[in-house]
Amino acid sequence: MTKRALITGITGQDGSYLSEYLLELGYEVHGIVRRHSTAENQSSRLHHINDQITRHYGDLTDEHSLMTVVRQVKPDEIYNLAAMSHVRISFDMPSFTIKTNSLGVLSMLECFKQECPEGKFYQASSSEMFGNSIDSDLHQRLTTAMTPVSPYGVSKVMGFNLTRHYRDAYKLYAVNGILFNHESPRRGINFVTNKVVKSAVDIKKGRLDKLELGNLDSYGDWGHSKDYVRAMHMMINHTEARDWIVATGETHSVRELCKYVFSSLGMNYEDYVVQNEKFMRPEELKYLCGDSSDIKTVLGWKPVYTFETMLDEMIEYWQQQ
Ligand code: NAP
Ligand code: GDD
Repeated sequence: MTKRALITGITGQDGSYLSEYLLELGYEVHGIVRRHSTAENQSSRLHHINDQITRHYGDLTDEHSLMTVVRQVKPDEIYNLAAMSHVRISFDMPSFTIKTNSLGVLSMLECFKQECPEGKFYQASSSEMFGNSIDSDLHQRLTTAMTPVSPYGVSKVMGFNLTRHYRDAYKLYAVNGILFNHESPRRGINFVTNKVVKSAVDIKKGRLDKLELGNLDSYGDWGHSKDYVRAMHMMINHTEARDWIVATGETHSVRELCKYVFSSLGMNYEDYVVQNEKFMRPEELKYLCGDSSDIKTVLGWKPVYTFETMLDEMIEYWQQQ
């Protein structure tokens, strides 16, 4: 029988790759989209599959809209990807961040519990929940303390705990994927990877003089979104509902990222990159490196992309624009 999936955040980076992946597997794919004044831009990541998916209007801050959609679709699998996902902007919009990323998860879990409790639920949790907690072997894992350093991180800890609570209290199949940073050419251009790649290409083409960044000395664990949406599907289809870490286990600084991208284009980043206070955060997360040995050994997940091949794909993409 054809499986039915409902994706919140379908217009985002992960939502678009996950839709493609589930369609390839033969799923019927539904997604929740917000009302936008520029409707023509809203589905830019979905143009190629628009006729294969069903879109429903809704918003994570509007529980009635969510209930109507879940009642109508009765999904076998719910992927709750919708979020105010930009960490720095969450300092400017803490209230909207909490409403969407925390109370929105509660609303989705209630819809799940009331309308399709036999189904399965995936919550997009984040390495940002760990803040600056690092285990003695310089990794983060399921047992690492959650000490978030941003409104976004705080909001995701609540979503994480609600998902775990609904699983235990109501015996629902609900899982958290704690995903470390993952990128692609479809990444928003105000996230550091795509900002660096797009700007470096613009500098190379003579369209830009300088690249202004914030903290160059924070370390991240960066993978590719395509590998990570495969992991989401594996997690939700495991025999046991539990939480997982998805990461590459490799860490690189923003400085190293700049060095790789600029030198791939035959330039020295030090000639073009300048720091601007504007892009610093009131509280900074300094170091991420995930231990994803569980998902590798238990589910056999393995990323296809490396840090370098992921950036090469992004460079190639921006050179074509
Ligand atoms: P993204 O590109 O920013 O996409 C976010 C999606 O959420 C968009 O479709 C957006 O819709 C939707 N959305 C935002 N607020 C909403 C609301 N109030 N109601 C309904 N929809 C709303 O993010 P992503 O990179 O794909 O990430 C997907 C999820 O994984 C997010 O929950 C993020 O926090 C989490 N996560 C991401 C990473 C990462 O490195 N990418 C790592 C860990 C966790 P519009 O298009 O209308 O704005
Ligand atoms: N965006 C941005 N812009 N980040 C910068 C800049 C800049 O100009 N300069 C330095 N950085 C640093 C940030 O301080 C951070 O340490 C790192 O680059 C990555 O920033 P982002 O790309 O904005 O991602 P993020 O790590 O804050 O958040 C992403 O990853 C989380 C998982 O850890 C988002 O996708 C979140 O939704 C996700 O949960």
